[in-house]
Amino acid sequence: MSLGRTFTLNTGATIPAVGLGTWQSKPHEVEKAVEVALKAGYRHIDAAYAYKNEGEVGAGIKASGVPRDQIFITTKLWCTFHRPENVQKGLDESLSLLGLDYVDLFLVHWPVPLNPRENPAANLFPTVEDGSRDLDFANVNLKDTWQAMEKMVELGKAKAIGVSNWNVRRLKELLTFAKIKPAVNQVELHPYLAQWDLQKFCEENGVLLTAYSPLGSTTSPLLTEPVITDIAKKTGKSVAQVLVSWAVQRGTVVIPKSVTASRIEENFQDFVLEKADFEAINELSKNKHQRLISPKWGVDVFEESA
Ligand SMILES: NC(=O)c1ccc[n+]([C@@H]2O[C@H](COP(=O)([O-])OP(=O)(O)OC[C@H]3O[C@@H](n4cnc5c(N)ncnc54)[C@H](OP(=O)(O)O)[C@@H]3O)[C@@H](O)[C@H]2O)c1
Repeated sequence: MSLGRTFTLNTGATIPAVGLGTWQSKPHEVEKAVEVALKAGYRHIDAAYAYKNEGEVGAGIKASGVPRDQIFITTKLWCTFHRPENVQKGLDESLSLLGLDYVDLFLVHWPVPLNPRENPAANLFPTVEDGSRDLDFANVNLKDTWQAMEKMVELGKAKAIGVSNWNVRRLKELLTFAKIKPAVNQVELHPYLAQWDLQKFCEENGVLLTAYSPLGSTTSPLLTEPVITDIAKKTGKSVAQVLVSWAVQRGTVVIPKSVTASRIEENFQDFVLEKADFEAINELSKNKHQRLISPKWGVDVFEESA
């Protein structure tokens, strides 16, 4: 059984602690996955324009029969839509694909603007001659993008706004000019990348963290981590259930992805870890630090080298 835990955003809205991820969920798989998840009790779906599957996510929502107002839906502004005049276009594209009037949370997907050229939807990964990303820092700054994000709240198209893949320095900068504070920062979080300093900063500033790739994404090294497999064996739970439960217990939202019905159901059954087990997992990122998702942006997004 799911514990049905929730968190409260700085807007006052409630967000279910466990949601369904949809990245790399293939066409013909994701519609069913969303339907299965909602029928199994999930009330939180994580989507993004760049996943190119929002149409099916929307179809899955409809097929589930669960009323819209009972579901928390997140989507994300893709990098080619950062110029302020394109932000609403980005959200409108997602809303139209999802078949919705509003999303519960709209995130700036990466702190990296890409050149939209004539049409921001035409090429999501524009490159220059040498093959590197066609960056757009010369034409757009974060403040302008964020003000356009704030407008989406004023228009009622997004109930809350936030960011994704932001570090502490970037959050500090954003907080200097944000009229609407980011409600969420969605980042890679799992026992090999616990990011405790980022969590502390976010908690002090009313920003909730969402853990992406909580199972270690594809070809995960976490599924065979002895500390975790031992706890799974001892408690009679699966490794994925231990990872999901750890994420919620540390105070983060978590969005495991699956297109497999049995796993979708399994991942939703969270439980409370004993203190010693919880603390043993907390220790892992000290010795086994590992970032699994690090796209080649041509700009130092995480600023971790020092
Ligand atoms: N904001 C960002 O930049 C960003 C980046 C990455 C991810 N995300 C979001 O976070 C979500 C989750 O991250 P993720 O997709 O990278 O990885 P993940 O959820 O950590 O792992 C997904 C992988 O684990 C498998 N899996 C799922 N449940 C399992 C279980 N119970 N036992 C064994 N294997 C299991 C899935 O396979 P099957 O599907 O075949 O079952 C898939 O291969 C994404 O889908 C996306 O919504 C956001």
